[in-house]
Amino acid sequence: MRNFTFYNPTRIHFGEGQIAKLAREIPAGSRVLVIHGGGSIFHNGVWEQVEAALPGYSLSRFGGIEPNPQFDTLVRAIEQGREEGCDFILAVGGGSVIDGSKFVAAALRYDGDPLDLLTGTRVQAAMPLGCVLTLAATGSESNPHGVITHVARQEKLSISSSLLYPRFAILDPRTTFSLPPRQIGNGVVDAFVHTVEQYLTYPADAPLQDRYAEGLLQTLIEEGPKALANPQDYKVRANLMWCATQALNGLLGCGVPQDWATHMIGHELTALYHLDHAQTLAVVLPALLTERREAKHAKLLQYAERVWHIHSSDEDARIEAAIDATREFFQRMGIPTRLSEHGLDAEVIPQVLAQLERHRMVALGERHDIDLATSERILLRAL
Ligand code: NZQ
Ligand code: ZN
Repeated sequence: MRNFTFYNPTRIHFGEGQIAKLAREIPAGSRVLVIHGGGSIFHNGVWEQVEAALPGYSLSRFGGIEPNPQFDTLVRAIEQGREEGCDFILAVGGGSVIDGSKFVAAALRYDGDPLDLLTGTRVQAAMPLGCVLTLAATGSESNPHGVITHVARQEKLSISSSLLYPRFAILDPRTTFSLPPRQIGNGVVDAFVHTVEQYLTYPADAPLQDRYAEGLLQTLIEEGPKALANPQDYKVRANLMWCATQALNGLLGCGVPQDWATHMIGHELTALYHLDHAQTLAVVLPALLTERREAKHAKLLQYAERVWHIHSSDEDARIEAAIDATREFFQRMGIPTRLSEHGLDAEVIPQVLAQLERHRMVALGERHDIDLATSERILLRAL
């Protein structure tokens, strides 16, 4: 196992009714910038619960954060927070709202151009931030990362700092009952791929991390389809929510090699063609696993056996069956696994490769050997 440092300070309040705990977490007298998305919180009772939990607090509400949160919108949130003298940020929504709020939190403690914080300037301070999660997917609720879309530059830019861990995260599975099927599928696929990218590399003498990953994957496979079939099943939603948080709260990846190539290629597809984040992952991952089947041979066999219970005698057949099973699982979650299903053809490949090159994504994967030629082969397999 490799050396690592693990740190995760986010306090999690998990379960039904936990939004009522907000006032315990936000210091009395705070002026709170409440950031949310396009309005789902007004239709599913979440906003009412937030308001009811914070009597006497001064709330400044900023709505309209888009899926794939946009830089320009967030600049307006920064301005509002500054003008209204806010000193605490409460993000209420999915990954986009939480990611966007992290950027706002850093920008409100930075004197320069906020864009600096997305282009290499280290975060040196951030306003305290808490969140109420309404979509189980990204793990943003208890990690230090944010991904911000810059439309004019056709880029997804990231921000990451230990100062950006939410102070607390409220995870009430009931808030996810109102998710449309597409977002249920997106959430399960995103959590699944986060797990795979910290697991399906090469053996690293980390049997606990392996079994932890296999546990997450098997739970997602078992519970995901149930959420589509019976959206009001609390037990299912609770398990999915906890899986998604753990898939990217840092613990799973401790001491093991990681391969974030699927995410990096996927981010370019979102920036260029506006596919949902998880839609890009469902297209790229099966293609990447097929292309990298030699490099990932040992772990693919383990994945086939332990996650999918495939025990046929021929090793190649086992690997192929596991990749097929992965693709079928994404399809069962309602997420297409081919670029062509999104109306994209081979003409997009040069554009994606040019973006990868521009962003210096030319040595991806656990061995840094996914160069542009390999990415091209992955994209060809994804058509
Ligand atoms: O905007 P509203 O009206 O709230 O609607 C949202 C949005 O349209 C809706 N939604 C959320 N909760 C709902 C709900 N609708 C009904 N009921 C509810 N309870 O769902 C739509 C999608 O929301 P979004 O926040 O965009 O989804 P998600 O949580 O999948 O976040 C995706 C973003 O996270 C980034 C992605 O790149 C993308 O920008 N990621 C962040 C990561 C991180 N911080 O660690 C890692 C991920 O790999 C990912 O890159
Ligand atoms: Zn993701």
